[in-house]
Amino acid sequence: MALRKILTQGESSLEKVCRPVERFDRRLHILLDDMKETLAEANGVGLAAPQVGILRRAVIVVDEQDQMIELVNPVIIRQEGEQDGLEGCLSVPGMYGKVKRPNYVIVRAQDRDGNPFEVSGEGIVARCFCHETEHLDGHLFVEHTGRLYTLEELDAMEADGEELQ
Ligand code: NI
Repeated sequence: MALRKILTQGESSLEKVCRPVERFDRRLHILLDDMKETLAEANGVGLAAPQVGILRRAVIVVDEQDQMIELVNPVIIRQEGEQDGLEGCLSVPGMYGKVKRPNYVIVRAQDRDGNPFEVSGEGIVARCFCHETEHLDGHLFVEHTGRLYTLEELDAMEADGEELQ
């Protein structure tokens, strides 16, 4: 396994529509293993292949049990409810914004060997499924928020009892 470089906003790979994974081969397995190692090292909750410069539809999401789920060719097939919350991205380091997402989603995907499965998530995990899946179509969370905040700004606002925009 190896760490991969996480690309940041402005890199063209983050703006592209990724192609489906068609070969469930050793190369895919190495990519998924590297993505998991990179995500753990970065202390994140999700990572999409285009964030490491690979334009294929594969993501990793950390679930409530702290397990990393590999999702190849993920599609959100059902969504319910709504939640508002702070969101960040390893490709937009140090910046956070308030983003509206469904509160519950069901995702259909394939595992690393091509076997189809479905997985559901709510709360922060649902948020993460939405955020990571969106990366595969070239979108970043910053498109859904009016303002971005640094951690320092968030701390100051909390101390002052100010509302997030
Ligand atoms: Ni992201």
